[in-house]
Amino acid sequence: MMSRKVLDDMNAKRTILLIDDELDSLEPVQMLLEDDYAVFTAEGGEAALRLLENEAVDMVIADQRMPGMTGVELLARVRELCPEIVRLILTAYTDFEAMLMAINEGRVYRYIIKPWDETDMQVTIRQALEWKDLRASQGRLSAEIAEANRALADRNRQLEQAQETIIDQEKRAVVGRFAAEMAHEINNHLQIIMGVNETVTSTDEEYRKRIIQEQAQMLVWIASDIRDFAQGAAMPFTPRPVDPAAPVEQVLRACSYHPSFRSIELKLEKGPLTTFVMDPRQVKHLLFNLLKNAARATDGKGSITVQLAVDGDLIVRIVDHGSGIPADIKEKIWEPFFTTAEQNGAGLGLSICRHVVEMHGGGISCEDTPGGGTTFVVRLEPFRKDRAGSSSS
Ligand SMILES: Nc1ncnc2c1ncn2[C@@H]1O[C@H](COP(=O)(O)OP(=O)(O)OP(=O)(O)O)[C@@H](O)[C@H]1O
Ligand SMILES: [Mg+2]
Repeated sequence: MMSRKVLDDMNAKRTILLIDDELDSLEPVQMLLEDDYAVFTAEGGEAALRLLENEAVDMVIADQRMPGMTGVELLARVRELCPEIVRLILTAYTDFEAMLMAINEGRVYRYIIKPWDETDMQVTIRQALEWKDLRASQGRLSAEIAEANRALADRNRQLEQAQETIIDQEKRAVVGRFAAEMAHEINNHLQIIMGVNETVTSTDEEYRKRIIQEQAQMLVWIASDIRDFAQGAAMPFTPRPVDPAAPVEQVLRACSYHPSFRSIELKLEKGPLTTFVMDPRQVKHLLFNLLKNAARATDGKGSITVQLAVDGDLIVRIVDHGSGIPADIKEKIWEPFFTTAEQNGAGLGLSICRHVVEMHGGGISCEDTPGGGTTFVVRLEPFRKDRAGSSSS
């Protein structure tokens, strides 16, 4: 049986189900609660369970002593069916032990001792409903936290994937740059070898052999660089004490057989020189690239001068009287793949030069040659042990 004081209030009010085998004995409780709550009553456990199938209830208050199903037994069933309903029991002092056990086992939230006191009853019910609300909001919070954690885990997975992609792209960029630089150098040396073959007469046989031998040696080194790089080694950097004029003279000798230098006069001006610790192979790459640029700017004619000196640092100046570099591209020329060459220019020469200078420590810059043209100035610092291995960039 069901009792409703104000039907319209049903939705707004919290709903309490009272259960006893003798409905009359529930009347005082019902009267006490009716003003503040929507109250249902049920005659015994079975009736209560049937009612719960159709009604949304916030709280059940069952009498412990009922024939068939005791209050605690009923509340255990209620917990199984609707765990969110808060469960209270009305009991006499004599059932104290059973009540404690029921509370400890979580079947019952609180018990109310009979005969009950009105204020006590109201406070207990209010607290029980507050506890229910708290538990519900904790449940919602836990669900929100679980959802946020899931979203975080998803985001984390996405980030990891993005990171892998970036690392992959970086690796490709390093490999790409290395491959491009090596292809550039191979091309330089092959052009010299081809130039020697085309232009040298039989009287130059010894000289010709020497040039080809030197260039072939450079190609062998490049092949070994590529093999080392493929095995994970950094860009090679092998400094050793050398007469700084030797690599410069070798490059100038080779240039005279490169097609770009056929009508160009190459001059070497040596200042004070002492043995200098550097990687001659890398310095030859650098010089050759600067000379090739100068030859292009000079349109294959005129003269290019290499000035060499050691004043603590090694200073190399490559002076041309060519086109000069327009102010608006003076910054850009250092960028990889920037070129103004209409053909045979990858835009990598100056990047390679910078790379070589970085390995040694020092700087590279360009200035206008008085009277027209460009002068590139390279300054290499004396080798310091702590720089070894910092050349992998
Ligand atoms: N001595 C120079 N005189 C005038 N312009 C120069 C000189 N050196 C470099 N430049 C300018 O800088 C650009 C970039 O030079 P860089 O050596 O990096 O590439 P590139 O010579 O165009 O091509 P690559 O060296 O790969 O064959 C050149 O295209 C040219 O515009
Ligand atoms: Mg170049």
